[in-house]
Amino acid sequence: MRPVKLAPSILSADFARLGEQVREAEAAGADRIHIDVMDGRFVPVISMGLPIVAAVRRVTRLPLDIHLMVVEPERHIEAFMEAGGDIINVHVEAATHLHRVLEQVKARGRQAGVCLNPATPLSAIEEVLPLVDQVMVMSVNPGYAGQPFIEGVLDKVRRLRRLLDDLGLEAEIEMDGGVTPENASRCVAAGATALVAASAVFNERASVAENMARLRAALAELRA
Ligand code: DX5
Ligand code: ZN
Repeated sequence: MRPVKLAPSILSADFARLGEQVREAEAAGADRIHIDVMDGRFVPVISMGLPIVAAVRRVTRLPLDIHLMVVEPERHIEAFMEAGGDIINVHVEAATHLHRVLEQVKARGRQAGVCLNPATPLSAIEEVLPLVDQVMVMSVNPGYAGQPFIEGVLDKVRRLRRLLDDLGLEAEIEMDGGVTPENASRCVAAGATALVAASAVFNERASVAENMARLRAALAELRA
């Protein structure tokens, strides 16, 4: 089994000391940094954009996992790649010409990801699976950190795992939303290979290092 990638999402970080928080996450063994870009249209609120991506790019060498929760993502992908994004994830619900968007990302030598809201069936992405480096399965309805994990999504992950295996495809399965030490091992048992976590990593209860260690420990139990 491949080691599971942990992707702390800065959505719950302390933005007044963002650089420090990213360095803490990197020191604690983060495999990538997840950046949630919300436009106030695809999702209800506005979060962050290009200057934050560029700022994070300056403080870490880790891959930046850009989650575009925006309408018309084709208008923005170039700028986010330019700002330092390594994995560019677009929502199937937002991209009318999904195939073209993914090809544009690949043509620039970046990794292309496609995201599915909880209500979106796997069939919506079947045709593009051979093109993508990652499928991001949302385990909350996107828009906010700290929402409860939608347990029913695990079945979709299991079906996606089987589909990718049947097709001989290596795409990463990243789960995003409500991931905690309590459910992380269920995500991985279902087939996830990367886990995003905002509020389980950046919170008042413990340090980033302690929170990351808890997530890792939860996954270690699975292997034992
Ligand atoms: C939700 C975002 C997630 C969010 C996860 O719209 O896409 O990446 O940061 O936050 P938690 O881990 O707190 O559910
Ligand atoms: Zn996200």
